[in-house]
Amino acid sequence: MIKITAAITGVQGYVPEKVLSNKDLEKMIDTTDEWITTRTGIKERRMLGDGNPTSDIGVEAVNKLLAKKGIQPTEIDLVICATVTPDYPFPATANVICDRTGMKNAWSFDVNAACSGFIYALTTGSQFIETGKYKKVIVIGADKMSSIIDYEDRATCVIFGDGGGAVLLEPNTEGNGIIDSVLKSDGEGRKYLIQPAGGSKQPPTHETVDQRLHYVHQEGKAVFKFAVTNMADVSAEIMERNKLTSDSVDWLVPHQANLRIIDATANRMGLSKDKVMINIEKYGNTTAGTLPLCLWDWEDQLKKGDNIVLSAFGGGFTWGSVYLKWAYNSKEEK
Ligand code: UT7
Repeated sequence: MIKITAAITGVQGYVPEKVLSNKDLEKMIDTTDEWITTRTGIKERRMLGDGNPTSDIGVEAVNKLLAKKGIQPTEIDLVICATVTPDYPFPATANVICDRTGMKNAWSFDVNAACSGFIYALTTGSQFIETGKYKKVIVIGADKMSSIIDYEDRATCVIFGDGGGAVLLEPNTEGNGIIDSVLKSDGEGRKYLIQPAGGSKQPPTHETVDQRLHYVHQEGKAVFKFAVTNMADVSAEIMERNKLTSDSVDWLVPHQANLRIIDATANRMGLSKDKVMINIEKYGNTTAGTLPLCLWDWEDQLKKGDNIVLSAFGGGFTWGSVYLKWAYNSKEEK
């Protein structure tokens, strides 16, 4: 029997036009462009407008993705949206995106795995293709981090931005597509990275708002230590499991939280900088959005058969790696 794998057959990103630069932040909080650049690698990030929800990112990305693939919205079977900044606690942002784009035949749901959301959703979506039952699955990673960031907390606000992207998954019988994934979580990490209020544990009250509990609370140093070790470990693990070497890996697509975490992961994998997708300087950390944004920025350079490792670490804690073989020559398709 021919094995069906789930291959990415198209990618589209979206970032809002409004830029928040390090220089802008210098006017808002006690920080400097020099501190942010040397500690994180970030120069600027994008901001969605006040009236624009996360679904705007998904809608923009999906509409352009469908147009460039020449596919009708009604052909999509399933939509999974990874986000920690949903339009509403419920219904799911994926439901909203389907409604707004006319994907009327798709069932849809959200995945909440913070910065690892995209690899969790990609792995989930790939299973539905592998069964042979589903032919077209869209996986979205999108976050409007500015909606939950405290712009008075200088240690946290400098790293986050808004944006995301979408990929189309289709069956592949040539051996390309998603080959393996290693996914992990450890809920103890919630003490270091959390949005404390707004859920059933601490529903919104005047007090929770006054205490600024609806914002992201991060102990940066602790998260950094876990991220550096775990993202490097899991990337090494997926290489070992699939007998990949630093020569045979063509690209690392790392979560963009901090350039120092990315460097540590690339070093552990033995990869030179030219094989690592880095766009943190222009978008910052868009949480579930970083990986599709990297694939979108690099799409033209990707070739059929390229060995690609995606790696992420984030709130939960959640972390993991996906190994995939790129399924098309992007340049030729345009
Ligand atoms: O994406 C999901 C997971 N998240 C991550 O992976 C983030 C991981 N953590 C980080 O990337 C880093 O911890 C941060 C970039 C968030 C912070 O960098 P750091 O090197 O860990 O700084 P720190 O929080 O330990 O602070 C060092 C110093 C402190 O001053 P003192 O106490 O040494 O005098 C801070 O008050 O830097 C100060 N500081 C700042 N100074 C200027 C903290 N934030 C700023 C700032 N501008 N924006």
